[in-house]
Amino acid sequence: MTIKDIFADYSEELRAVDEQLMDLFKSNVFLIPMIGRHILNSGGKRIRPLFLLLSAELCGYKGADRILLAATIEAIHTASLLHDDVIDDAETRRGESAAHTLWGRQAAILAGDFLYSNALMLAVSQKNQKITEAFSEAVTRMAEGEILQLCRVGDPEITKEEYFDIISAKTGVLLSAACRIGGILSNQPEKREMSLLRFGMKTGTAFQLADDILDYVAEQRELGKKLGKDLAEGKITMPLIYLLKVAADVERDEIKDIINEAAAAQKSKKRAPIKGKTQNSGLKRIIDLFSRYNAIEESLKIAEGLVVEAKSELEVFPDSRERDVLLTMAEYTMQRDK
Ligand code: IPE
Ligand code: IPE
Ligand code: MG
Ligand code: MG
Repeated sequence: MTIKDIFADYSEELRAVDEQLMDLFKSNVFLIPMIGRHILNSGGKRIRPLFLLLSAELCGYKGADRILLAATIEAIHTASLLHDDVIDDAETRRGESAAHTLWGRQAAILAGDFLYSNALMLAVSQKNQKITEAFSEAVTRMAEGEILQLCRVGDPEITKEEYFDIISAKTGVLLSAACRIGGILSNQPEKREMSLLRFGMKTGTAFQLADDILDYVAEQRELGKKLGKDLAEGKITMPLIYLLKVAADVERDEIKDIINEAAAAQKSKKRAPIKGKTQNSGLKRIIDLFSRYNAIEESLKIAEGLVVEAKSELEVFPDSRERDVLLTMAEYTMQRDK
């Protein structure tokens, strides 16, 4: 079973999720559906709704509510992307111009706010306290993760623990909520619900780790985002944290200079866009050092370890097709090229 087969098997459900998603952008204020159409039609893998659908089915739930909740989870993700590209000053999303570059930062932020609250309203309409709590907690913790990340921008002293706090909050939490909600929908015993929660958290954290690796090694056309943007944004992610730990003293100083330069350039970007030589040569140098110290391989190993841990969380469920599909999905987070 390949990931392509899985997406093909669920194409009907995912189409229904997309319809519901478009509904969440419905408004008489024309700009809202316009931004909605732009970001939804640009692509997106829809892995979060798929994890929710699969978790629900693993627990034997096939009711219509799963589509609505899968749309809610993707809406929260979409809102976070609208905000994220403003925060990161990113120009490209899903291979297209980021919404804020077309309609301005104010519009992108407000459309994100609209979508966040509309998604939560849809969740509340389910009249299931646990589901409402799962979504609200996820949104709160995601914001917390983004703020922690902001506090550590350009800080080469960031620890691996802090990095994991950031990525588990900004990305792990939402996938965790997706999987847990699958369990809540079918009234699973606490033990199974918590296994799904941890499965999602570990898989989601590995997914962000993979994203942080892809930022240095992917094909830009596949990824649909600019490469090397984490360094340019002053974001110190796993490969760089590893490199800072193992590099020789003189190299460490050099790396810190490159980081400082990138962070300074990011800060002054609005006044004087710097896309020139210095940043590119800094990125090139970092990539050279990655290969000398196997920083990418070591980071991949950590992510793979997390996927193994994630998969073992599903051992509380009996063997089934749905469980196999979820295990394949967890592995896919490491194999993806976009
Ligand atoms: C992008 O998420 C943001 C991260 C958490 C890494 P995805 O890689 O799932 O983005 P889309 O939805 O497929 O565009
Ligand atoms: C993704 O953050 C997490 C959220 C959107 C909350 P990133 O900034 O690392 O993701 P990309 O690389 O822009 O997709
Ligand atoms: Mg970001
Ligand atoms: Mg970003």
